[in-house]
Amino acid sequence: MKHRTLRLLGSLLLVATGVSVTGAAPAPRPTAPTPFDHVVPAPAHAAPGEHPYRITRGTQIRVDGSREARRVGEYLAGLLRPSTGYRLPVTDRGAGGIRLRLHQGPFGAEGYRLDSGPAGVTITAAAPAGLFHGVQTLRQLLPAAVEKDSVQPGPWLVAGGTLQDTPRYGWRGAMLDVSRHFFTVEQVKRYIDQLALYKINKLHLHLSDDQGWRIAIDSWPRLATYGGSTQVGGGPGGHYTKADYREIVRYASSRYLEVVPEIDMPGHTNAALASYADLNCDGVAPPLYTGTAVGFSSLCAGKEITYDFVDDVIRELAALTPGRYLHIGGDEAHSTSHEDYVAFMERVQPIVARYGKTVVGWHQLTGATPAEGALAQYWGLDGTGAQEKERVAAAARNGTGIVLSPADRVYLDMKYTADTPLGLSWAGLVEVRRSYDWDPAAYLPGAPASAIRGVEAPLWSETLTRSDEIEYMAFPRLPGVAELGWSPASTHDWDAYKVRLAAQAGRWEALGIDFYRSPQVPWPTA
Ligand code: ACM
Repeated sequence: MKHRTLRLLGSLLLVATGVSVTGAAPAPRPTAPTPFDHVVPAPAHAAPGEHPYRITRGTQIRVDGSREARRVGEYLAGLLRPSTGYRLPVTDRGAGGIRLRLHQGPFGAEGYRLDSGPAGVTITAAAPAGLFHGVQTLRQLLPAAVEKDSVQPGPWLVAGGTLQDTPRYGWRGAMLDVSRHFFTVEQVKRYIDQLALYKINKLHLHLSDDQGWRIAIDSWPRLATYGGSTQVGGGPGGHYTKADYREIVRYASSRYLEVVPEIDMPGHTNAALASYADLNCDGVAPPLYTGTAVGFSSLCAGKEITYDFVDDVIRELAALTPGRYLHIGGDEAHSTSHEDYVAFMERVQPIVARYGKTVVGWHQLTGATPAEGALAQYWGLDGTGAQEKERVAAAARNGTGIVLSPADRVYLDMKYTADTPLGLSWAGLVEVRRSYDWDPAAYLPGAPASAIRGVEAPLWSETLTRSDEIEYMAFPRLPGVAELGWSPASTHDWDAYKVRLAAQAGRWEALGIDFYRSPQVPWPTA
């Protein structure tokens, strides 16, 4: 009797400490559910409860009658089936289980409530995007092994309690430069899935630059076939057909991301200028360019054909893009006179409006007159001169919305340290704490808080060619930018955040995401 009690106690202790009782290959089997404070981005309000929910072989995913709730339910089932090995039928019948419910309430366009207890988990939202973001939270409350694509032992516990969550900002973006190096549709989809895990809702694609034009335009076919035929370092480049681009848009939309396409102009246009001699002021096409200098190219502001070109490109791109925005670049136009730059933007912004889109430009657009409703994307540094910051702040006071991408904070292509093998360092070295530890609302002196629409993490690709390289630069900084965009300022705390961030590592390993093991973060030891 005594002996049996001891053995039972012993095995309970073994289970509690995560040691396998079967002997072979002791895989860690956490028996306590992931706490609410391990979710990234931090939820707005969390009230932990007593008892968890356990996903079992009999769990159903219950959706209301709407097609959209069903679509999110099928997405959730697709995430959970491979690792749990359960059937997890998506149904509009029954009780308990995991319920996705569209219901009017104080959730806004993207918020949700998650209620969890022994009887089930219910995610309630007013809109499908809210259900989707709630599903990302549920995913992070499950063990990291849930991300694997083969059956894992579980148990699949979800902590009990209630989360009420709604984003701080409507613009939580990531930019991928597919021009300096081209990335395939599959590579872009992989990044989209990683962004969705952190509730990023904008995918800004930098589709053209000196080194490559990456989107087919029927009325100017050589842009893609010739202008897209190389990349930095002289590789083969590539471009998206219209069907490719539509597939990216469709996939992004299935993850509740809005694609924001960028055609950078009037500078950063060598690939276009090389493709059509008539676009050059002197009528001579330059050679294709595979270096990494900036500021040497310009569309010809004084030629009418320039505006025919811009009209055609924007019309075709707008027709492919269900999203509200079209980014016209406008940065580093060092080979365009100020007078030409202003005149060019005066003519180009109304073209964007004519095709039903809202202008976004890099913040140099505020050196011209931003159109009504335009957004300026600030990419200066902490140390950028007061005069330049004030010009952007004045535009913000005048109604221009601001998306913050300070280069020495959130440019994901900046090296972490001098030893980082990839990336650039012109804006400085950006360790994980530096990318997280700033406040968007207070960043730009003189800009009203209401003008700040959110944050975006650009990833320029001069040095990047593969998905694992994208990931190494994005992780672990990207989740911090996502948290700045989503979580209320009251949750901002580096010491708490770094623990929350460290807890993500097992998930990245399960997903095969490469990441930088910053010494600033208390990663779990193997
Ligand atoms: C930029 O980094 N040139 C926007």
